Amino acid sequence: MIVVSDTAALETHLTTLRDHARRVAFVPTMGNLHDGHLALVNQARAAADAVVVSIFVNPMQFAENEDLDTYPRTLDDDLNALREAGVDLVLTPSADDIYPDGSAAHTAIHVPGLGDALCGKDRPRHFDGVCTVVYKLFQLVGPDIAVFGEKDLQQLLIIKKMVGDLGLPIDIQSGPTQRAEDGLALSSRNQYLSASERAVAPLLRQTLQSCGAALTATPDGPPTSIIDPAREALERAGFTVDYLELRELATLQLVDRMDQDCALFVAARLGETRLIDNIQLAASG
Ligand code: PAF
Repeated sequence: MIVVSDTAALETHLTTLRDHARRVAFVPTMGNLHDGHLALVNQARAAADAVVVSIFVNPMQFAENEDLDTYPRTLDDDLNALREAGVDLVLTPSADDIYPDGSAAHTAIHVPGLGDALCGKDRPRHFDGVCTVVYKLFQLVGPDIAVFGEKDLQQLLIIKKMVGDLGLPIDIQSGPTQRAEDGLALSSRNQYLSASERAVAPLLRQTLQSCGAALTATPDGPPTSIIDPAREALERAGFTVDYLELRELATLQLVDRMDQDCALFVAARLGETRLIDNIQLAASG
């Protein structure tokens, strides 16, 4: 496995890789890898002849009050896991390489609509940062395929829209959310949870499942009659709920009946830790 931090040297390594790989799949990450990332890597390996992974904690997607400085960085463990997973090349660029004049001064890519709802409302520049770095990484790596997790469903939809709008010749594939045995979606931020917070955290997934079943059973709505009590129950259990919302999958518009494919999205904080999850619901009726 080749590890390259110098983006100028990357091109030579990619040319060598392309000599024997017809299709290259790419998995961008911020490191601190868990089984969720490794499932995406396995999916990438099954879909292509070579796999490239990037590890870059992207300053542009963190707001000033967020956890950029404390975000867990575990490069040695990450490289061991990627080596074991059969990855061909790992890119670990520096912030100076990606943003020579600093991320605040950098041109941003904004996906309107999809990027303004849900997490985009609570974290106004977050998805601009995600899109900008993903675009730059795509330019550096030139993959045929890129794989993103469904846990970050809004991110996945936004990346797909960016790729479509900008005409990038990359097949965006999605991988299912990986979960702990009790249903909690795997996330690097789970390790911030205290023991008591970790014990209540699975309620998020249980709420999505029970609301999902009730919403599908009563497609004519209104969804608020199911969602509002569920939000209150989460608050009573100790969550601070940023949103629990039923949105149309294609547009992320709020919906008041289940006559199109939807997803129920949740973001909620336990103490200082913000957790997100979602469940996709097929149109009924
Ligand atoms: O999902 C993530 O880990 C990040 O948002 C990504 C896509 C690697 C961009 O920094």
